[in-house]
Amino acid sequence: MSATVGEGFDRRAAALLRAAANDLKRDDDNAERDLGLEPGSFAEYTSGRRPVDWALLQRAAEVWPLNERDLLPIHDDCPTGLSVLRAKESEASSRVLARGGTDYYEYRDTAMSRIASYRPEWIRMLQVVGNDRADNPDVRWNRGHLLYQFTYFVGPVNYYYRWQGESYCVPMETGDSVWGLPFAPHSFTARGDAEPAYILALTYGGGLVGDAQRELAVLGRRAAHELALPVTRDATSADGQIRSFMAAGCVTPAELAARTGLPPERIRQLTGPGARAVPTQDELTVLADGLGVSVRDLLPPRSTSRHGVSIQHARDARSWVHPDEGRPAYRLTRLAGDPLHPHTSALQVDVLATADADSAPLATHQHQYLFVLGDAPVRISWERDGERRTDVLGPGDSAYTEPLVPVTFSAVTEAAPRVLMLRIGGHVTPDVRHALGAMAEQGIDRYIAEDRLWYSKEGN
Ligand SMILES: [Fe+2]
Repeated sequence: MSATVGEGFDRRAAALLRAAANDLKRDDDNAERDLGLEPGSFAEYTSGRRPVDWALLQRAAEVWPLNERDLLPIHDDCPTGLSVLRAKESEASSRVLARGGTDYYEYRDTAMSRIASYRPEWIRMLQVVGNDRADNPDVRWNRGHLLYQFTYFVGPVNYYYRWQGESYCVPMETGDSVWGLPFAPHSFTARGDAEPAYILALTYGGGLVGDAQRELAVLGRRAAHELALPVTRDATSADGQIRSFMAAGCVTPAELAARTGLPPERIRQLTGPGARAVPTQDELTVLADGLGVSVRDLLPPRSTSRHGVSIQHARDARSWVHPDEGRPAYRLTRLAGDPLHPHTSALQVDVLATADADSAPLATHQHQYLFVLGDAPVRISWERDGERRTDVLGPGDSAYTEPLVPVTFSAVTEAAPRVLMLRIGGHVTPDVRHALGAMAEQGIDRYIAEDRLWYSKEGN
């Protein structure tokens, strides 16, 4: 393929082609016949000796029941495990967007990666308001957007959000943060122009972007509405999940009663139309048994958002030292989040370590975004493939780190650095991680880079 970024793109494309042919039970001869290739060439494509080109992808999508994107790998733009966007580069991306004829926001890109779905913007509020009214006509609302948004506030910023037609305004201070649901209109203004007023608007798709969105776009509006499961604050009712599994297994209420030993009346209370009953732990266990699933599959997630947002003010945010009081390397502050996204973690890191040697590694299963707040530079060390690297990030610099890359921070000058840390789960969800853990020997290696036909021509 042309216009590839980073190493290994062609190799990953070759592996995907082999994996797809295996899935369709095509050996080389059959694949060559289907795709109109000369004898011997399929092995060249799937070994990476000949690059998979667009014409081959189109042909494959034409004759096989798959999509071009199924055969397209992603680009690796972070080969060392960490990539940096300097404040200068961020400034160079500056653009001012007007709304209703007045300059409203200045946007600047910060560190992004093709490996992760988040879109972090530095945004300065250009509209100054004289009050905190949500109906202030100087406030220019957006229409909401697909991506979830975590926002960190710096300076006197007013935050406006709208939910079910009702508008709200919350005056924010430095260190406040908010997490918000997709497609809810919102806006930001400054309460003055004497000091900087800006936000770090870290938007991300979670599981919403990618394959699910494309699948639902084909299935249509009705299916998308029907597939939506309610989310509540207390996550009690399990009827949506139980009914889905009953339908999937063609299980009648009578059959579920027989399998679980629960009285038919109780099954009706738990799963009937308008069911409101909350299953007990014991009931969940027998229901999961009866349906042949895990208890976790019957439990809905909860959300603590109100009117579409979860607000965390700095004044009442939890804060603690890490790794321990005796040798504290960091003071961490928990920022806004929501149980609906257990794999999103937002933290403010105040760096107490004054030397690399006094620091402590922080690692996570999530993709990680870093932004240097305040005026102090920070030394950052990280490790990938046994190689340790160090860099100094200045104020306004930002970085992306791959999952599982351990990172340490320490001060460079007398001033204690402050780093904003947002971690988001990628497409490697708990379901995928459990699937990896359940694979047969060599499965994981072949899953990420299929290198062989699924059977041996020699028959052993
Ligand atoms: Fe937004």
